[in-house]
Amino acid sequence: MKRAVYPGSFDPITNGHLDIIRRASEIFDEVVVGVLVNPDKKGLFDIEERVKLIEKSTSNISNVRVESFTGLLIDLMKKADAKIIVKGLRAISDFEYEFQMALLNNKLDLSIETVFLMTSENNSYISSSSIKQIAMFGGSIVDFVPEIIINDILEKFKK
Ligand code: COA
Repeated sequence: MKRAVYPGSFDPITNGHLDIIRRASEIFDEVVVGVLVNPDKKGLFDIEERVKLIEKSTSNISNVRVESFTGLLIDLMKKADAKIIVKGLRAISDFEYEFQMALLNNKLDLSIETVFLMTSENNSYISSSSIKQIAMFGGSIVDFVPEIIINDILEKFKK
């Protein structure tokens, strides 16, 4: 079985992430969305909340499951019994960081390959931080996140 892990912080999941998950689910037998902690980022949603938002957004894709993990991505790969990492590339600016991560992960575990999908043009400018900023200042996020989680995001900023 070809199982791939799509890792990220997903704070929160965006239409850009969902596009990659959908397309990966057509390429691989199973896609495990891995919610990992990026120690360089301060989160808005806790890990359990992020998992729930991804589960809600992907409930109609049968070969997708969501896992959270604290630690290295390569250790999640072992736990999930997967050898392929899927990542989305939005712009040239993503390339340097992603290239470094792909090489690092391969150095840590030689059996791991990273596969990149080009983000669709209409999602190329989206990021979780920009969406949080738009929501915080009362702007509309309807074009950027799955419809089913819009209220969860707005509620978070009411608190
Ligand atoms: N569409 C829209 N936005 C996208 C996107 C897409 N297709 N792909 C990525 N993004 C955005 C994300 O929302 C995120 O935005 P933000 O910076 O505003 O939060 C940004 O691009 C970066 O995304 P990503 O590449 O997923 O990085 P991340 O920081 O969210 O996650 C981990 C990186 C969690 C995969 C990485 O830190 C990790 O592997 N951590 C575990 C520890 C480890 O193993 N480290 C490696 C050895 S040092």
